[in-house]
Amino acid sequence: MRRPLVAGNWKMHGSRQSVDALLQGLAAQEWPEGVELMIAPPALYVDRCCEQLQGTPIQVGGQVCAAQAEPGALTGEISPAQLRDAGCAYVLVGHSERRSLFGETDEVVCRKFAAALASGLCPVLCVGETQAERDAGQTAEVVGRQLQAVLDVFGVGGLAEGVVAYEPVWAIGTGLTATPEQAQDVHAMIRARLAILDDEQARKVQIVYGGSVKGENAEALFAMPDIDGGLIGGASLNAEEFGAIARAA
Ligand code: G3P
Repeated sequence: MRRPLVAGNWKMHGSRQSVDALLQGLAAQEWPEGVELMIAPPALYVDRCCEQLQGTPIQVGGQVCAAQAEPGALTGEISPAQLRDAGCAYVLVGHSERRSLFGETDEVVCRKFAAALASGLCPVLCVGETQAERDAGQTAEVVGRQLQAVLDVFGVGGLAEGVVAYEPVWAIGTGLTATPEQAQDVHAMIRARLAILDDEQARKVQIVYGGSVKGENAEALFAMPDIDGGLIGGASLNAEEFGAIARAA
């Protein structure tokens, strides 16, 4: 009953020239039926991507947004309403790079989640533990705390209007993918936690995995019962590989 989502987070990569080349490569791919597809380019290229991906099944997302939907005196920020206006359907919130490098707290992430929903965007809530936290046996606690901030305000029904992305920090950009079993364990733990609150809604929540997903490991990850697709970093910068990952979903 859950459709898989395969999303590409381009992070701070690209130029007008390379973005155009990547978009051309994406247009040439064969996309599977029944899989939701999204790319999140740097904000400067959102417009370009929305225009050039019209007529393809690929939606566009922001990588980040302000914590309020209304316009305001927030130099440098981009509101979720502006992303929506540009044609975006999604926005990432709480990516570990935002949490660790830009000080985004659970409370700020929750406000961004709220602003995204209020603006008609689907927020992709990223959660995940560091290597030290995993080694200390704190994975469930850390991921649980990150989810709870949003659950306290929105409940499982509200969370189900977005997407959860489990991205263990130790697997991001390191080539150290979580094994399908390691990822499934955490995805199942997340769903079980949600099911305690609302079993029916918990079954609807898309939970995607992120962290060194590639063409060669995607199929085994996506075959797991609680892994509903992926959030892809580095490999999404290559159209053929992103296409292969999408076809594995
Ligand atoms: O948001 C995607 C991400 O952080 C994973 O990056 O390069 O490990 O696929 P990567």
